[in-house]
Amino acid sequence: MTAIKSAGYTVFIHKNIAKEINSFFKNSKVNYSKIFILVDENSIKHCYAPLAVKVGAFKDAEIIEIESGEENKSLEVCSQIWSTLTEFGADRNSLMVNLGGGVITDMGGFIASTFKRGIDFINIPTTFLAQVDASIGGKTGINHSNFKNEIGVFNSPKAVFINSDFLETLDQRQFLSGFAEVIKHALIADADYWKKVRSFQNSDSDALNELIEISVRIKNKIVLEDPNEKNIRKALNFGHTIGHALETFFFEHHPEKRILHGEAIAIGMICEAYLSYKICKLPKEQLEEITKFILSRFKPIMINEIHENAIIELMKHDKKNKTGVINFSLLSSIGKFEIDQTTSEELIVKALKYYLNEAKILK
Ligand SMILES: NC(=O)c1ccc[n+]([C@@H]2O[C@H](COP(=O)([O-])OP(=O)(O)OC[C@H]3O[C@@H](n4cnc5c(N)ncnc54)[C@H](O)[C@@H]3O)[C@@H](O)[C@H]2O)c1
Ligand SMILES: [Zn+2]
Repeated sequence: MTAIKSAGYTVFIHKNIAKEINSFFKNSKVNYSKIFILVDENSIKHCYAPLAVKVGAFKDAEIIEIESGEENKSLEVCSQIWSTLTEFGADRNSLMVNLGGGVITDMGGFIASTFKRGIDFINIPTTFLAQVDASIGGKTGINHSNFKNEIGVFNSPKAVFINSDFLETLDQRQFLSGFAEVIKHALIADADYWKKVRSFQNSDSDALNELIEISVRIKNKIVLEDPNEKNIRKALNFGHTIGHALETFFFEHHPEKRILHGEAIAIGMICEAYLSYKICKLPKEQLEEITKFILSRFKPIMINEIHENAIIELMKHDKKNKTGVINFSLLSSIGKFEIDQTTSEELIVKALKYYLNEAKILK
């Protein structure tokens, strides 16, 4: 068992998380009046049963099930859940348990943080992406008017419980989406970790646990130093300035060709590694190493119909950017980041073209 201390809460990584969850309830100062477990159809199917039989406190819990999918991380769905909480008599001493991927932990955290001015919540992430990234760090939120994570608050869970066994039922595409964040953690923080990440094979469960633990430690360390993203937390945005714009572009214009968060970030990291090479002296061999590795793991995404101007407009809107100036977190070498970097729109277009060219999908 690994217990990693975060801002006022602990992240438990354990094969038997039921035991840790039972201890959480036993040691909690709050006597929770009612427990609500937020799930989607996949997390209830694959992850709920093994916990329900072992966690005493879950016996009388109310299950709130929503449909899976990023499109449901919305105000409409929040509104339905707030109503359900009211209907079932939730009060200030109720607890929300977010059992699912990043959509569930982001939205459940937001719902709990705002219901009756805030009730407690815990996260039990069940996707790779949620285990290494979304469930920790205190960012909660929902999408709004076609913009990702437009509404939300910083607020921490009371605890996070991670069991990598949950990932056995995850499909390969979803698994890779989480792997993109692992790649990011290595690139921004640790050149030795980058070597481990490059040799990782999905079938090795010990290696998977090690990856989860190292990634959680890296993200946690950064977040503890800068919880509100005024400074070094921005490093976690490597690959995300361009990645988020691509994700939003597809979300808005090509819902049928939706790309997953990690898939967008994978492309974003190649483009931003190119910018790093151009403006932060990332050595050329490292740019090539990053590009080659990501392309070897992620199928190329056809983005040739992308309207470059639309992508740049989306980047300007990104809440991380101050009025009109597009802000990047880049690399000066593998394992070392530089925050608050800006560049010309022309170079951003070149970076997108670099990806298309390297992925051999330029028409
Ligand atoms: N708060 C943060 O710091 C932060 C960081 C990164 C990403 N995010 C957010 O996380 C979200 C993406 O998270 P995600 O990739 O987990 O998406 P997700 O929650 O949509 O889960 C992906 C899919 O996997 C299914 N699933 C969940 N657990 C499963 C299991 N054990 N077996 C089989 N299927 C399972 C889900 O039902 C869904 O269909 C995005 O909304 C993103 O904005 C937040
Ligand atoms: Zn991300």
